[in-house]
Amino acid sequence: MLRVCVIGMGPIGNRHAKIYKEDPLAELVGVCDIKKERADAAAERFGVPAFYDAQQMLDALAPDVCSIATSGYENGSDHYEPTLQAFEAGCHVLGEKPICNEISKAEEMVAKAREKGLCYGIDFNHRFTPAAYLAKQWQNEGRLGHLLFVNMSMWIMNPNESSPYFMIKSLHPHTVDVMRHFCGDIEAVQCFATKAPGRKIWSTATFNMQFKNGVVGSLSGSYDIERGHPMERCEVAGTKGRFVLEDMWRQVTLYPAGDFVKLQYTNPVFGGVRDFEDTFRNRIHKFLEQVTAGVPPEEIDGSGADGLAAQKVLQAAIESLETKSIVYVR
Ligand SMILES: NC(=O)c1ccc[n+]([C@@H]2O[C@H](COP(=O)([O-])OP(=O)(O)OC[C@H]3O[C@@H](n4cnc5c(N)ncnc54)[C@H](O)[C@@H]3O)[C@@H](O)[C@H]2O)c1
Repeated sequence: MLRVCVIGMGPIGNRHAKIYKEDPLAELVGVCDIKKERADAAAERFGVPAFYDAQQMLDALAPDVCSIATSGYENGSDHYEPTLQAFEAGCHVLGEKPICNEISKAEEMVAKAREKGLCYGIDFNHRFTPAAYLAKQWQNEGRLGHLLFVNMSMWIMNPNESSPYFMIKSLHPHTVDVMRHFCGDIEAVQCFATKAPGRKIWSTATFNMQFKNGVVGSLSGSYDIERGHPMERCEVAGTKGRFVLEDMWRQVTLYPAGDFVKLQYTNPVFGGVRDFEDTFRNRIHKFLEQVTAGVPPEEIDGSGADGLAAQKVLQAAIESLETKSIVYVR
C-alpha cells in the first residue's frame, strides 16, 4: 500500500483525499494547507493529521506519493513550490492541471522528476474513462486507418476574470491533452478568441492545429455556457473510420468508413461511470497502479511531460492570438 499525502485542501484536494481514502492501493496519511481552517477541516473529515506547511509534512511523514492540489494565479501558480519540495523529499507526484502557469517553471518541475527518477502524473482525468479507453483500443486495432483530422470541443461556465488568458490556460490543458492522446504532438497553432457580453477576458476561443504526423485539428472551448447539456466532444477521423466520444464517458461511437453499420458503447447503468468524480477516481487509481507496478517514470500515462507539452501548445495559442499569426510550438 502506498502512503499518500495531499497538499492543498480546497474542493479538489478534498476530492483527491476522499478517493485515496477509498482506494485499496493507498493509505492517506496526512493533509496540508497553508490555510489552517482548511487543513483542520480535512484532517477531521479524513481522520489524519493536519499540517500547515508542506515541507514539515513531507519531513514528518515521508510519503510515497503526494497529490498537489494547490491552485493560484491562472489556477496553476501555486503548484511549483510544493511539487519541487515533494520531488526533493523522494515522493512520486500527481499534480493538478495546469501543470503550472509559467512554462519555464513547468520545465523545471518535469526536469526535477526526471533527475530524481520519480513518477510525475497530471490529473488529466477526462481521458481515464472506459469510453476513452475503448476509443484508444479501436485506434490501436487500426480501425481508424491512417489518421486525418480531429475536432474537439468543451464548454462550461466559469466567471473568473483574473487573467486575460485564464480560459485558455486553465480549461484547455484537458482538451489539448485529449487531442495529443489520440493524435500525437502538435506542431503549429492558430488561435482566434472572443469575449461574451460583459466579459473582459478571452472567454471563448477556437484553435486550428497542425500535428507533427500530418493530422489537422480544430478545438473550440468556452467559459461562457451554463451547464445542463452535453459539454465535451472529441471526434477523430481516419481513412478507415471515425469515432465520436461524447462527454468523456457517456458514449463513444465508431463509424467504419464505407459501412452502414456503426458500433456504439453507452455508459452502463450498472458498473458504469456514476459522475464526474469517478473520472478522478479512475485517473488516481491508474497512477497508483502504475507506481505500485514500478512502471518507469517515462511511461506514466498523463505525465508531467504531457502536462508541459499541453501548456506549450496553449502558450503558442496565446502568442498566435496576440500576433495574429500561426505560431510553431517550441
Ligand atoms: N482535473 C480537473 O478536472 C479539475 C477540476 C477543477 C479544478 N482543477 C484544478 O484543481 C486545482 C485546485 O482547485 P481548487 O478549486 O480546489 O483550488 P482552491 O484555490 O480552492 O484550493 C487550493 C488550496 O491550496 C492551498 N495552498 C496553496 N499553496 C499551498 C502550499 N504551498 N502548501 C499548502 N497549501 C497550499 C490554498 O490555501 C488553497 O486552500 C487547480 O489547479 C484547478 O485547476 C482540476
